[in-house]
Amino acid sequence: MATHKLLLLAGDGIGPEVMAEVKRVIGWLEREGLASFAIEEDLVGGSAYDAHKQAITDAAMDRAKAADAVLLAAVGGPKWADVPYEARPEAGLLRLRKDLELFANLRPAICYPALADASSLKREVVEGLDILIVRELTGGVYFGEPKTITDLGNGQKRAIDTQIYDTYEIDRIARVAFDLARTRRNKVTSSEKHNVMRTGVLWKEVVTKVHDADYKDVELEHNLADSLAMQLVRWPKQFDVIVTDNLFGDVLSDIAAMLTGSLGMLPSASLGAVDAATGKRSAMYEPVHGSAPDIAGKGIANPIAMIGSLAMALRYSFNQGEVADRIEAAISGVLDAGKRTADIRTAGAEVISTQAMGEAIVAELDAARA
Ligand code: NAD
Ligand code: IPM
Ligand code: MN
Repeated sequence: MATHKLLLLAGDGIGPEVMAEVKRVIGWLEREGLASFAIEEDLVGGSAYDAHKQAITDAAMDRAKAADAVLLAAVGGPKWADVPYEARPEAGLLRLRKDLELFANLRPAICYPALADASSLKREVVEGLDILIVRELTGGVYFGEPKTITDLGNGQKRAIDTQIYDTYEIDRIARVAFDLARTRRNKVTSSEKHNVMRTGVLWKEVVTKVHDADYKDVELEHNLADSLAMQLVRWPKQFDVIVTDNLFGDVLSDIAAMLTGSLGMLPSASLGAVDAATGKRSAMYEPVHGSAPDIAGKGIANPIAMIGSLAMALRYSFNQGEVADRIEAAISGVLDAGKRTADIRTAGAEVISTQAMGEAIVAELDAARA
């Protein structure tokens, strides 16, 4: 059996708490002989700043590049509010995405049947929901230059962020979205603001061109990002795959998370291009949520987004889709049995800790063992 080189970056806040539960699942997979991992760990975010005055070191970046996949939990928190901008915790995460060229961020929002009442929306709006947000992750306003803040000398300052997209960046993310749609319900909704932004005009043009040239069999619709935000809350089941830029994808995926009951439910995969020579692709798997400073250290965070991110690693990096299916089925089973972390509490359910949720998922995997 191939041994997967995995780099674990637990980060800050609830990061180490949810990462501990992923390790529990990894331990089970190894004991069962379902997967073999060579695991390294390193610092990222505020914890890296405390140790090295940098949000990620070059040595950690080298480890990330050498790994088959990176699992990152979360970075950030109020403790680092005043560190220099370049060294803020989030800069470590952004460097990983940029330097590993992880341009495609897959954020699936699935409402598990048992959680239809955990959403703030009505049951009929979210029950059976299964949508996939494909977020462009290495371009746009996150990385465009200039990105400056200047003192104008008259008591005023000027801050500039720059949104840039080149044809190739839109082309490649559109292809990811269309390819994935073919494995699902064959529909892509592309979202931008071409009514206000030049990058939106180019986005719509390139997505349409890619569609008409190579993906005529896939249904394509365009939706302005503000309207899409509204539609996500009004009737989200009309969507299958949503493809959008870096900033809109960030915002829309937090909205989508709440359709599933909690931010603590949403995993993600950040993928690079497949290397033609080696067939390998760089990849990082990260929950959509952050370090949740408000609940950090209390042992109550939901580890499902993090464990779901491990399942995505098995599916997208290690060609072990059946093992991923088993993990997702175990999560579903635990929820069906009425076990909940506090964020997904529903009437009559048993509220359990982060650790108890990890243990329950492993027990469910055990019980369902083939
Ligand atoms: P957040 O996602 O950390 O928290 C938002 C809300 O969701 C909080 O009430 C939190 O308690 C809750 N929540 C999040 N994850 C949860 C989980 N697993 N279980 C239960 N509840 C959960 O967003 P924020 O508060 O806006 O940001 C806090 C810090 O995290 C900031 O520094 C931000 O930059 C950072 N952040 C990091 C990442 C990442 O590392 N990938 C993602 C988002 C935000
Ligand atoms: C996310 C986060 C990050 C982003 C931050 C922490 C840089 O919000 O992964 O959704 O904005 O991309
Ligand atoms: Mn976000």
